[in-house]
Amino acid sequence: MASVTGKRTPFIAGNWKMNLDHLQSIAFVQKLAWSLKDARHTFETVEVAVFPPFTDLRSVQTLVSADKYELKFGGQDVSAFDSGAYTGEISGAFLKALDCQYVIIGHSERRTLHNETDELIAAKVAAALKHGLVPVLCVGETAEDLEKHGPSAVPVAQLKAALAGVTVGADIVVAYEPVWAIGSGQAATPEQAEQVAAQLRLALVELIGQEAADATRILYGGSVKSSNIAGFMRQTNVDGALVGGASLDLAEFSSIVQFQKHVGT
Ligand code: PGA
Repeated sequence: MASVTGKRTPFIAGNWKMNLDHLQSIAFVQKLAWSLKDARHTFETVEVAVFPPFTDLRSVQTLVSADKYELKFGGQDVSAFDSGAYTGEISGAFLKALDCQYVIIGHSERRTLHNETDELIAAKVAAALKHGLVPVLCVGETAEDLEKHGPSAVPVAQLKAALAGVTVGADIVVAYEPVWAIGSGQAATPEQAEQVAAQLRLALVELIGQEAADATRILYGGSVKSSNIAGFMRQTNVDGALVGGASLDLAEFSSIVQFQKHVGT
């Protein structure tokens, strides 16, 4: 597997949050695919996924399958339940039926604005795995946590709680997103990201075993831009990025995906 980290394929993921309707999603994905094709991007070298709102997924699926794009996509959340009387919820089975490969779970906006607990997040991780989706599990500390407990205590505790029930060898992606860095324009330094990513990987060894821990991509998220991606990608334990705001800017996102062209700069 070709990658700058040696064994893990770098992964750049765009979290659109509640932006772009289904028509806008088609235009965006088409332009992104063209832009990457023009740049001769190879998806085996850097995997790319977008996470549109639920209402866009069918449109994105149809486009990706008709035009045979190698771009992956997924949901921004998933229900802990399979089906039933859960108004407004989306089953992992439905996401799988739309060819979603990934699903974001435990984003800090859902933890804070929607009061998602570690228990609920663990149930969502289990639901995703049950339906054959790869969870992109988000963990990260607030500015207050950082001051009180240091950088890695809260993200590691969140990781352990979310993965307590998973089996050895589980296929997951972890996104380390310091809450203070999200949407703030104030990214962590590459060294800060590496420090926490290294602790997360150590915790993963206990949770899913050495082999799976070595194979798990750990992303950094929080104010990632084309101008700072290279620094993160040089770190041993950082294997990609979960990009919010900059994933809605075609030129920016395309440039982030092509970070290997500016790693030396
Ligand atoms: P940001 O968001 O890149 O806009 O900081 C990242 C995220 O919330 O996943």
